[in-house]
Amino acid sequence: MALRQIRVDSDPVLRKEARKVDKITPRIDMLIDDMFETMYQAHGIGLAAPQVGVLRRVIIVDIDKKPLVFVNPKVVWQEGKEYSIEGCLSLPGKTGEVERPLKIKLEYTNRKGNKTMIEAEGLLARVICHEIDHLNGVLFTDRIVDLEE
Ligand code: NI
Repeated sequence: MALRQIRVDSDPVLRKEARKVDKITPRIDMLIDDMFETMYQAHGIGLAAPQVGVLRRVIIVDIDKKPLVFVNPKVVWQEGKEYSIEGCLSLPGKTGEVERPLKIKLEYTNRKGNKTMIEAEGLLARVICHEIDHLNGVLFTDRIVDLEE
């Protein structure tokens, strides 16, 4: 495993759309390991591949020591809305209030390459939605209700 550099602020890679992953190759597998190492070192709870400069549709989340990997994630259902404060490893020092769905159903490919689905709510749903935004070049500051510097 290796630490990767987290892209920050106005780095253009953060504004690009990431490409689908067709197959979990050894290269993608290594990317996932590196993303976890990088996220833990930065004390984050979520990270998307574009944040380390790789434009592929891979996100990771770890809330309460439960590492999760979502490849080609897609929200197929959502319900409710909730406002909460977010931050981002790519936007150091910025936080702000963002609206997210309360509950989601997510289709994704797991690390073994199988298509599957989960339901998530609350913080987990929020982090997943935040990370999926990164795959589309969207940052939480684009959605902010109330920016706190
Ligand atoms: Ni972020």
